Amino acid sequence: MAKLKIILILLAVYIAYQYYDPFDPEEVRGKRVVITGASAGIGEQLAYQYSQLGAKVLITARREHVLQKVVAKCKELGAQDAHYIPLDMGKLEDTKRLIDAAKTKLGGIDHVILNHITYDYLAPWNGDMERLQQVMDINFHSYVSLATYATPMLNESHGSIAVVSSFAGKVAAPLVAPYCACKFALDGFFSSLRQEFVMQNMDISVTLCVIGKVDTASSHKNTKNVMSADRYSTPAPDTANRIMKGATLREREIYFPWIMTRPTMMVRDLLPNVLEWLIMSGMDERRKGKAKTS
Ligand SMILES: *[C@@H]1O[C@H](CO)[C@@H](O)[C@H](O)[C@H]1NC(C)=O
Repeated sequence: MAKLKIILILLAVYIAYQYYDPFDPEEVRGKRVVITGASAGIGEQLAYQYSQLGAKVLITARREHVLQKVVAKCKELGAQDAHYIPLDMGKLEDTKRLIDAAKTKLGGIDHVILNHITYDYLAPWNGDMERLQQVMDINFHSYVSLATYATPMLNESHGSIAVVSSFAGKVAAPLVAPYCACKFALDGFFSSLRQEFVMQNMDISVTLCVIGKVDTASSHKNTKNVMSADRYSTPAPDTANRIMKGATLREREIYFPWIMTRPTMMVRDLLPNVLEWLIMSGMDERRKGKAKTS
């Protein structure tokens, strides 16, 4: 019984610690922040979260007319400085352009938030190698390239890299094999890089962001045939806020919403078959449900 009590107390302390918030908004003021995939969803909300606290932002995505609007709102919200540059993260030369622009427009980088992504509809793997190559280029290779070009400036500023990943970057799910592949690859690469920074005395933090289902236009579009959209979604501004805090506090990994993501990791390691069975039956049930109603 005494042992059980100690375990319960430790568990309570651990859970309480997950909700303890040492974040100081003043730390964000004046920070030079680069955000990719910032025309919509979490990236757009990240631009607003940083702007509200007086950061200097440089945002990118492909659609210039949308970036113009986002930058205008950043300025309205209180950004010390806000710039955009329309780029295609499927092209390696554009990753260099972005980091060069950070140098000329912001004079350096304190945070780089790697967030952009190309999506596919949920479907079984169809053997399309060309598309897989493209997915890896956009969702993985460009992340590595951006971090590489940014490293000297981040070392100088004692900066932070945030890598936006997903639940599917820690637990494989069916119907999203290429997506799982790039998110797992990011975990492997950046968890290795984090240790190399320490070994090389470079004071750069790497925050891997494991996030659950977020309420964004693209997530609705891409999961509508399989998942019930709203039941488990989190609002994008809350998610963006958590990512900003994680990068500012130089956290190793963040899980958001914690209760929807972190406990599942423990089940993954202890009972992998049970977890896979739950994921598959959940997807099947919803597919059948949708088929009946449509
Ligand atoms: C990183 O910055 C430190 C100073 O903070 C410097 O001594 C070191 O040479 C830099 N490392 C690299 C690889 O640029």
